[in-house]
Amino acid sequence: MRDASPQQTPQAIHLRDYTPFPFHVAHVGLTFWLAPQATRVRSEIRFEPKGPKSDLRLDGEALKLVSAAIDDVPLDLALDDTGVTVPAASLPDRPFTWTAEVEINPSENTALEGLYMSKGMYCTQCEAEGFRKITLYPDRPDVMAPFDVTIHADPSGSTPVLLSNGNPTGDGTWHDPWPKPAYLFALVAGELVAVEDSFTTRSGRDVALKIWVRPGDEGKCAYAMDALKRSMRWDETEYGREYDLDIFQIVAVDDFNMGAMENKGLNIFNSKYVLASPETATDRDYELIEGIIAHEYFHNWTGNRITCRDWFQLCLKEGLTVFRDQQFSGDMRSHAVKRIEDVLQLRARQFREDAGPLAHPVRPESYIEINNFYTATVYEKGAEVIGMLRTLIGPEAYRKGCDLYFDRHDGQACTIEDWIKVFEDATGTDLNQFALWYRQAGTPRVDVSEAWSAKEGGGTYTLTFRQETPRTPGQADKDPQVIPLRTGLLARDGRELIPEQVLELTERTQSFRFTDLPERPIPSLNRGFSAPIVLTRADSTEDRLIRFAHDSDPFNRFEAGRTLSKTVLIKMLTDGSEAPAAYLDALHAVATDDTLDPAFRALALALPSEDDLAQTLAEGDQTPDPVAIHTTRRALLRAVAAHMEPVLDPLYDAMAVPGPYTPEAQAAGKRALRSTALRLLSERDGGARAKAQFAAADNMTEQLSAFSSLLGIGQGAAATDAFYAQWSADRLVMDKWFSLQVSLAAPEDAVTTCKRLTEHADFDWKNPNRFRSTLGALAMNPAGFHDPSGDGYTLFADWLIRLDALNPQTTARMSTAFETWRRYDENRQTRIRIELERIAGTPGLSRDTTEMVGRILRA
Ligand code: TRP
Ligand code: ZN
Repeated sequence: MRDASPQQTPQAIHLRDYTPFPFHVAHVGLTFWLAPQATRVRSEIRFEPKGPKSDLRLDGEALKLVSAAIDDVPLDLALDDTGVTVPAASLPDRPFTWTAEVEINPSENTALEGLYMSKGMYCTQCEAEGFRKITLYPDRPDVMAPFDVTIHADPSGSTPVLLSNGNPTGDGTWHDPWPKPAYLFALVAGELVAVEDSFTTRSGRDVALKIWVRPGDEGKCAYAMDALKRSMRWDETEYGREYDLDIFQIVAVDDFNMGAMENKGLNIFNSKYVLASPETATDRDYELIEGIIAHEYFHNWTGNRITCRDWFQLCLKEGLTVFRDQQFSGDMRSHAVKRIEDVLQLRARQFREDAGPLAHPVRPESYIEINNFYTATVYEKGAEVIGMLRTLIGPEAYRKGCDLYFDRHDGQACTIEDWIKVFEDATGTDLNQFALWYRQAGTPRVDVSEAWSAKEGGGTYTLTFRQETPRTPGQADKDPQVIPLRTGLLARDGRELIPEQVLELTERTQSFRFTDLPERPIPSLNRGFSAPIVLTRADSTEDRLIRFAHDSDPFNRFEAGRTLSKTVLIKMLTDGSEAPAAYLDALHAVATDDTLDPAFRALALALPSEDDLAQTLAEGDQTPDPVAIHTTRRALLRAVAAHMEPVLDPLYDAMAVPGPYTPEAQAAGKRALRSTALRLLSERDGGARAKAQFAAADNMTEQLSAFSSLLGIGQGAAATDAFYAQWSADRLVMDKWFSLQVSLAAPEDAVTTCKRLTEHADFDWKNPNRFRSTLGALAMNPAGFHDPSGDGYTLFADWLIRLDALNPQTTARMSTAFETWRRYDENRQTRIRIELERIAGTPGLSRDTTEMVGRILRA
């Protein structure tokens, strides 16, 4: 399958080069004759010229052209590498119908893009540019058309269920009346069974809901179905958006490059984000299912009805839809806990990206392979930008702007400028400077200094902020951005001295004055993480302890504890000191405070991750040593366990959830805190309680938490075997088995464990979930991956090279494991560079991986 010809330098595409497509597409008719090695696709496309005569360029890749005609007059066309051009001279200057027949080979499609097969089932993935692997078409999101699709079953008889977008018409055709871009096309065929339900929209229309799975999995769809119905209702009440077809379908497939896909009326999901039962799925899995079901459903309005003009506008749909799914999950569970989780994720993925060679703006201005821009920056920072907008203009104005967006742009392919304009028009606010968030890459640094002048009858407190955004690839100088900081001022006893307010930074340096204060306040800044920035303030341990004990903003309370933990850990790392008693007492106090939500307490007790510490050190221009970080973090874990020993056992018992497992947030929170207690207890009891919990567990959350504790203290051997014996037939559970063994292996064992597991009979490297569970887990074990021998890098690179020949998209994504390489010492940098250059020099390397490795190396 590899291209033997020498690598061509891939061409960059630029936002500034956008030109509209010269034809309107009035209708698309598709007929499929399915067969694993030779599927026939007949297309009938109605084109209407928009202006003067122009060539007709159609995209096409890996297609065998059987025939083509315009208005039934056969054309003799030769395909090039990326499609076909019909010269203007052979086109009429009035509307015409293009018909073509092509042949494709789904059974050899290992890239999982276009029409491919997963366990005998046919399915599609067209975003971003996969439709061109199905037929010749203007495969760009600003070409929107209604589709009619007819599917003829595979003659082998293995495809009794035939699905596509839209409503079934009764005569075997799927009719999708809503004009859509080709990236939202979907087709599914196979031996599937449906779990069915229905939803009545607020205007009284009945919608059939179907979740399609392989026979045997019907019992694992109830939670996804429930989440879907809650999402549909929420979009009606919170955004005024109603569903618009007679049927909404979801299909679960095992081989999938990403999480899920919002194809119109026919979402396709990685099965791990649909299937759940108490025995096989953890609380975290349930939470992810709820969030991703919501995300894909919400795309029906933010993405599908209003789509992107071009792929540079990806954050228009993704940032907004992530923001919406975060709001939804907060409403369903706890806003405080959800916000802390989202920020942890943002820092772990997006701040990491912003700090390295792959940094790019929320709206990039050029790309080589668009698949490489489905990033944390586009998704998560894109959501943060919307959150800031809402904070700045307020919730009512935000809703008003959204209503205007839907009114004004329904059925259109839009830009970020369109999005910003509706808020300017709805509120009269000038958002020109705010729009910099879309154009400037990098995480702004905001340094805070303060002054206090005590006077009789009330003192004056001044906060001075200085903002600066570090240089990023291609962007040396940055202008000051609009930074909304939700701010409170605390007294030493924790009282709020002023009503909370939003400080709006717009200048490079800016001061805010607070007068008539009874005492020098402790500032609580950037509450709720109202802006995605790195905030530095030379605050005292005492200040932090007060905020950790009293801040009324739960995020900042968490944040104070996190900053304390990091400071303690970094001090332990540098001078070998021990954890101070005041810090341990503070953790103890939060752990045992029964007025606090257990889920919050679990988050507050968790130590910062090893990668978070490495990143924090790098932010302060220090060189992190991943092995030392691992050892020190474990030492702190032990110190916490020793200090809290007397309360851990009662806490562990108190957090037991009686009765049968339910996934709701309250019970999940208790289990999370119990699991934290178990991990600490395991440092004291050699794993006795964890072994008992492992044996007794009747749900995967508790089984896995016990398994993790045992692996964490190096006592996991028996549990590893027992877990395998119990679960070897369940693919999704086995992914967890692969992943935990590698990610929790001791630093010196991680590479050999990973390597051994790649030789395991159940290591199916062509399945992206299993590949990520095994190799991705190595990158999630920083001390193991960064073993000074470089063995981790070599193993990882070997597998990237191997996977690239089959699946460029997943390979390119996983190459980001190397994006932090400049943080490390010279030995590690040299060894990583050797591997990156080896990957880059592989003959026939995909465009996806070539672009990623090139960008990582060039920094
Ligand atoms: N649009 C999808 C989402 O955010 C994600 C997506 C983009 C995707 N490209 C993909 C999913 C390729 C699978 C494969 O929900
Ligand atoms: Zn999305």
